[in-house]
Amino acid sequence: MSDLKGALSEAVEAAFAGLGLPPELGRVTASDRPDLADFQSNGALAAAKRLGRNPRELAAAVAEALAGDARLAAVEIAGPGFINLKLTDAALARRAQDIADDPRLGASAVAQPRRVLVDYGGPNVAKPMHVGHLRASIIGESIKRLYRFRGDTVLGDAHFGDWGYQMGLLIGAAMDESPAVAAAVEALNAGGEADTSAFDAVTLADLDRLYPEAAAKGKGDADYRDRARKITAGLQDRRPGYFALWQRFRDVTQVALQRDFHALGVDFDLWKGESDVEDLIDPMVAELDAKGLLVDDQGARIIRVARDGDKRELPPLLVVSSEGSAMYGTTDLATILDRKRAFDPDLVIYCVDQRQADHFEIVFRAAYLAGYATEGQLQHVGFGTMNGTDGKPFKTREGGVLKLADMIEMTRTKARERLHEAGLGENLPADEFEDIAGKVAVAALKFADLQNFRGTSYVFDLDRFTSFEGKTGPYLLYQAVRVKSVLRRAAEEGVMPGPIAVAEPTERELVLTLDAFETALAEAYDRQAPNAVAEHAYRLSQAFSKFYAACPILQAEPATRASRLALAQTTLAQLERALDVLGIAVPERM
Ligand code: ARG
Repeated sequence: MSDLKGALSEAVEAAFAGLGLPPELGRVTASDRPDLADFQSNGALAAAKRLGRNPRELAAAVAEALAGDARLAAVEIAGPGFINLKLTDAALARRAQDIADDPRLGASAVAQPRRVLVDYGGPNVAKPMHVGHLRASIIGESIKRLYRFRGDTVLGDAHFGDWGYQMGLLIGAAMDESPAVAAAVEALNAGGEADTSAFDAVTLADLDRLYPEAAAKGKGDADYRDRARKITAGLQDRRPGYFALWQRFRDVTQVALQRDFHALGVDFDLWKGESDVEDLIDPMVAELDAKGLLVDDQGARIIRVARDGDKRELPPLLVVSSEGSAMYGTTDLATILDRKRAFDPDLVIYCVDQRQADHFEIVFRAAYLAGYATEGQLQHVGFGTMNGTDGKPFKTREGGVLKLADMIEMTRTKARERLHEAGLGENLPADEFEDIAGKVAVAALKFADLQNFRGTSYVFDLDRFTSFEGKTGPYLLYQAVRVKSVLRRAAEEGVMPGPIAVAEPTERELVLTLDAFETALAEAYDRQAPNAVAEHAYRLSQAFSKFYAACPILQAEPATRASRLALAQTTLAQLERALDVLGIAVPERM
């Protein structure tokens, strides 16, 4: 089933072709003047320019060729040669009915589904999440859902940072703090047995406290740093004491992170860590060596990835450090191999902070050189930062990095306030009210992020994000809930939806907006830009508002009532679908 815009494009393109004009110029777009027309084609102007002919004459010829099209109520030439198309009410009603009957709500699936892996979130053991991780989670989750809805086979992987230098720092710090931990680590490292109950006593709060101290100390103290590097190398060699303590660190962090992510409506299909590819690294290094790609560089082993014609010099990929450790990029390279074997993706999308653009360019080039992927198969989808009012990446009032759990709690608190202010949810049971506050909070954070093109940075403004007015997540939830309540009332009164007819201007506009879902999804998919879907959700709720203000539903005559009810139901279904693609869930009532 094709959308109206697509179907009309085909018709106009065919008319162009019939007149010997380049067909692709016929493509139609939504009208700039919705008061005059539904769609327009500007192609006659471009064709006239190309062929040195008169644009109005060409436009008139196209209009004549389209005259017999029963879907069109009017074809008019405007200005220098724009072709304005207005659909009949019947054609709009037919399309609305198709959308109503379509489980995909009028959105097509891709012709050739691909296997896609989305690497997003990227949290680390112990290191607190910063705004980059928040955006990576929100945008990545949406891209995963978007690709899945378009018909691809998609897996989302958290790519848990559990194998780097921070682990050495943390192990050292935990040993310094607790003699019992240190004794058990050393006994195990020496090949003996040990009582590891001290490991089990390590909590997330301990890690949160120890990591910043250790990281700061590592910066200023070369010996301390050195020790952390050695411990990291020892861990990567699986020395039993380090390994056992590390497992504890990883487990407590993972449980907490999964809980926080879940509260944000972010759930990964795979929770693979950097450590999961450890076994692949030695054979990979040997193979890279055999392929002649590794170069010795002051005790380290690197792959040079610079290319002729590079605008600036890209550093090489550091594969093995002079201490013998695998680096961040090494695990990324091995992970490419691992994913190829386990999932064989056609495309891997790395949804990570724009600040890591060089890192990915370097890793991708190394992977292409090694034959682990083909050019274009690996894509970095970067994004700007969420800033504080000072214009710098958002920090807490104390100047620290944000913790996801705190961010969610802070937003929830604000959401509760907002609900009270608006007199919403007041008479509902406490647990339902909490659920609603959670959904409002998630909608606030996610919609504020996803309404911007991902490359754009934006300012964190909780007051604005949580407002029930304006272009916000809570506004959209409120609109969706309002439709739900209309539908509930209709059900109570025994009113059933029926065949859709279209007559009023606001009904026409609503159907045209429903039709535009396809275009929004296609654009979002092609540009990896969920903001197109966010914009659609907003427009749809506005179109519904106008419709609802102008067209009574339950008070209308039976046939009109049934039609409008069907329109409302279809709007809700599509709105919830669009919000679901953004990772936003709608409560039943407020
Ligand atoms: N853990 C990394 C960080 O905090 C992000 C991981 C991104 N994904 C990747 N495959 N490197 O910066």
